[in-house]
Order: sequence, then structure tokens, then C-alpha cells
Amino acid sequence: MSTVNVSGDRHYQVLIDVNWKSELSRLLIGRTRAALIVSENMKERVGEVSGGDVEIFTFPIPDGEAGKSTATLQQVWNWLGAAGFTRDDLVIAIGGGATTDFGGYAAASWLRGIDWVAIPTTVAGMVDAAIGGKTAINSDYGKNLIGAFHSPIAVLIDFTWLETLSDRDYAAGLAEVVKAGFIADGEILNQLRGRDLSTIRNDQSCVLDIVTRAISVKALVVSEDFKESFAREALNYGHTLGHAIELESKFTIRHGECVSIGMAFMAHLQLSLGLISPQLAQDHLDILHGLGLPISYNRSAWPTLLANMSLDKKARGKSLRFVTITSIGKTERLENPDETLLLAAYEKVSS
Ligand SMILES: NC(=O)c1ccc[n+]([C@@H]2O[C@H](COP(=O)([O-])OP(=O)(O)OC[C@H]3O[C@@H](n4cnc5c(N)ncnc54)[C@H](O)[C@@H]3O)[C@@H](O)[C@H]2O)c1
Repeated sequence: MSTVNVSGDRHYQVLIDVNWKSELSRLLIGRTRAALIVSENMKERVGEVSGGDVEIFTFPIPDGEAGKSTATLQQVWNWLGAAGFTRDDLVIAIGGGATTDFGGYAAASWLRGIDWVAIPTTVAGMVDAAIGGKTAINSDYGKNLIGAFHSPIAVLIDFTWLETLSDRDYAAGLAEVVKAGFIADGEILNQLRGRDLSTIRNDQSCVLDIVTRAISVKALVVSEDFKESFAREALNYGHTLGHAIELESKFTIRHGECVSIGMAFMAHLQLSLGLISPQLAQDHLDILHGLGLPISYNRSAWPTLLANMSLDKKARGKSLRFVTITSIGKTERLENPDETLLLAAYEKVSS
């Protein structure tokens, strides 16, 4: 087991390579009166959990984004109310990023914030969603619009969860790992170069190492900048176009896949601006393509994507911003680049 420390509204640890059931039991005993597990696909995935004297309840929620709704949250609030959950009690969220976002927000909103534990079961959840204390549900007006910064008391990373993850979800999660490599830790890229998804999946020590490194990158950034002012923006490498694609596709394409296309686009944009070498640009494309991630998108979508990126600009109230790298591990901000340069870079990733 290894640990990564995170700070924000509280200090907590990410416990990596643990058996989640025994670690959870250890955490629960003597700490709390009752705990509610929220999870998708409860029976098959979670089974029996022992908490000693702690009473453990379960609440199944709908899978993925469908669970991140006010309707589901209302049901959980009703349940917590009927069970008389107090500030001494605990929520445990077991699932992908959607479930840890939901469970974290259920805990944040009950009695102005009760403790919760995150047990992410996807790569994206482990390296991204469960780290950093951002919790949320969706509103009719968009994703993650209702939420709170509310850190868990611990994050438990058990790699056995990943055995059942589809290749598509696995690769989508690795996009965020690749991003961590480009913005902060080149060793991640060294481990991914020239290798495909199945080789990576079957190499447990590699998975342990790159996931731990990606968690450390996110932990360091969010600990410096809990409420997302400037430093945390570096985590948005590839995300400006990525978010625009997510919206254009009506969320039918995985977040990590959109970020992959966004990073491929950044490779071309940065090359055209003279920020990176042709070799570093090619490195982006080779690593992402090698993992089976998409690096191109529909040519005719460009006007909508540009409009979507500008929407993001309005939301931020300032300018159209991209996170760039000038070398591996060195990020900068690029504001309002020439639209012809943006289009030229997009043409290189359009099909
Ligand atoms: N809070 C944050 O900082 C943050 C950061 C990034 C993403 N997110 C959120 O995370 C969510 C995306 O997370 P995700 O990519 O994990 O998607 P997800 O939670 O929707 O899970 C993807 C699919 O994998 C399934 N799944 C989960 N664990 C599995 C397992 N072990 N084996 C087999 N199938 C499994 C889920 O049931 C689901 O169908 C989005 O809602 C996004 O907004 C939050």
C-alpha cells in the first residue's frame, strides 16, 4: 500500500493498492454509528461489507449520469432523514466518477456536510473524479451545475475493481493519466510510449505506478489550489476543445475520449505556435492513438465547437483560454489565439 496526501477543506489520504473491504472496515470501526453506501449495480459489485458495530445500509442509485439527478438526491435525503442520520454518520460512495460525485454531494448537502469516503471503481474515478473534493449533480441546464467543494475523509484505491471495466472506459480513464504525464510527470509517458491498451492493462506494476503518479499530480495541484483559481487550471489541458466536443456530442462520447481529441488538437496548435517541437507533437498523437483513444472528430462540427468554446469563455467572463505546454511538465495559459490558427489545428484532427 502507498499513500498520497491531499489537502483542501480538510487533510486526507488516498490509500492506494488496498483491499477496499478490509480498509473500509478498519476506517469505520469506532468512528461512526451508521454508514450508508451509495453505489450503482450494488449487489454484484459491493456484496457484504463488515463494519463491526457500525450499522451499514445500502442505497442503489441509477448508473452513470442518470444517477446524478435531483430526483435521486431527493430519495437519498428522504432516506437519510428517515434513518435519522446525524453528523456522526457517514456516506460511502462506491462506483465510477458519477457515483463519487453524487455520493460526495449527498454528504455535502446533508446537515451542511457529513463525512464521506470515496471508493472509485473506474480509472477516471481513481485519478480524477474522487481526488480534489469537487462533488456535484447535474441540473436541467448542464452537467455538474449543482455542487460543493467537500473533501472525503479518505479515498480507497483497490485495483481489482478494474478487472471488469470495459476497454473503452479503461482507455477513457487513461486519457487523464496521459494528461498528467504531459502537464507534470514525464515518467508516465515513458511507461506508455509504444504500448497498447491490453499490454498496459496486463502489466499490474505499470498500472500501479502510472495511476499513483497521476493521483499525485492531481493531489499536488488541488492541494495548492483547492477552489480552482489558477494552478488548478493546468488540469484542463486538452479540456477546452474536449468540453466543447462533449457538449456537441450530447455527452454520447466519453469525457476522456473528448479530452484525447482535445490534446491531439493542442499538439497541432502548439506546434503551429512554435511552442513545442514536432517530436513532442507527434508524441501526443502516438501515445493517445496507441491506447486506442480517438484523435480526430467530425470536420463539420467546427462552428458548433467554436461556439461551445466561446460559451465557456462567457462562463469564465474573460477570454477564450487554453492550457498549453512548452515542454513536458511546463504549462502556460494561452488567451484568445487567432481563430485561423485554431481552425488550422482543428483541420489536422478532423475527419
Ligand atoms: N469531481 C471531479 O473533480 C470530477 C473530475 C472528472 C470527472 N468527474 C465526473 O466523473 C464522471 C465520469 O466518471 P467515469 O468516467 O468513471 O464514468 P461513470 O461513473 O459514468 O462510469 C462509467 C461506466 O462504468 C461503469 N463502471 C464503474 N465501475 C465499474 C467497474 N469496476 N467495472 C465495470 N463497470 C464499471 C459504470 O457503471 C458506468 O456505466 C462524470 O460524471 C464527471 O462529471 C468528476
